[in-house]
Amino acid sequence: MPVPMVGRAVALEELRHAWERVRGGGRCVPAVVTGLPGTGKSTLAAAAVQVATPEVTLAGSARLHSPAPYDWLAAVLATIGPRPDLPVPPDALAWLAQDPDVPRERYTPDALLRLAVTTVRGLVGGRPAVLVVEDLHALDPASLSLIAELAGADLPALLLVTSRPPDAAVNPALTVRTLERLAGSPGAVRRHLGPLGAGDVHKILDHVYGGSAPSRDVAEAVWRRTGGNPYRLTELLAVAGDPEQLAGELREPVELTAREREVLGCLAEGMSNKQIAGALGISVRTVTVHVSNLLRKTGAASRTEAALWAVQPRSAAF
Ligand SMILES: Nc1ncnc2c1ncn2[C@@H]1O[C@H](COP(=O)(O)OP(=O)(O)OP(=O)(O)O)[C@@H](O)[C@H]1O
Ligand SMILES: [Mg+2]
Repeated sequence: MPVPMVGRAVALEELRHAWERVRGGGRCVPAVVTGLPGTGKSTLAAAAVQVATPEVTLAGSARLHSPAPYDWLAAVLATIGPRPDLPVPPDALAWLAQDPDVPRERYTPDALLRLAVTTVRGLVGGRPAVLVVEDLHALDPASLSLIAELAGADLPALLLVTSRPPDAAVNPALTVRTLERLAGSPGAVRRHLGPLGAGDVHKILDHVYGGSAPSRDVAEAVWRRTGGNPYRLTELLAVAGDPEQLAGELREPVELTAREREVLGCLAEGMSNKQIAGALGISVRTVTVHVSNLLRKTGAASRTEAALWAVQPRSAAF
């Protein structure tokens, strides 16, 4: 059963307003949606496109593991098919579309960037458009230059960008610069999606299980176990067919790595992250990562609670 989008009403409303500004002003309005993996960036972007019902939608994302130049534009061109009407030399267009038969490097990088902008302008054709750039963090530098250029263009478009945090990016520094440039454009929207709240998780469970919706306690446990991450929640629900199974799933023993077990043992002794780092000969940062994984896996709300979890009989199996 499709899960309804919950907890993003304010963000969606903000994007709808941005779209109204595009229609009223004719200038490009960037909207940047960031968040950790699986927080619902793509879901929100899709909902925004649905609300806007633009005349033109150009959507693309990085398609390759190590993206080729102008991968975003090539992805867009691949979805819309041949467009001989565009005011761009056919060989340049073929190159931008990553046609493997076209000789490379006939144009300078500057000329290619101008041609790429002209191509987008031609595709938009002066009509109100939404340009969807999915997963900016995974894009190639040429695409990032193009996106930054479009942000400042007199183009009647909502430039709707999703991105994981820059530290997960192919080019972290360039990603930071591009996100800053987009967010700094006049009228830009900047939205960081955090985890869903316990109430939102409950709403999803209500929807999925209808009349036999799990109790508040189970909903709370699901929220803790998934950290309010919509993707993890979807995964958990896919495994658990009904509320009984869900409750059983939550009782399943939690699998911890050897290092996590060591860290948990230290937590149970009331040690600080610094003390744990010293005791295990690892960095404080690494300890922080282990602790946050432990909180997620055990569904504990705090390190004290995780420590209590460690001494409960059900954790004996680890
Ligand atoms: N607000 C929400 N309410 C309910 N379900 C949601 C919500 N947001 C996302 N989901 C569900 O969570 C899953 C992951 O969402 P989505 O793909 O949008 O995340 P993402 O942030 O784009 O992830 P990635 O970083 O991998 O691109 C999807 O199955 C989606 O249906
Ligand atoms: Mg996504």
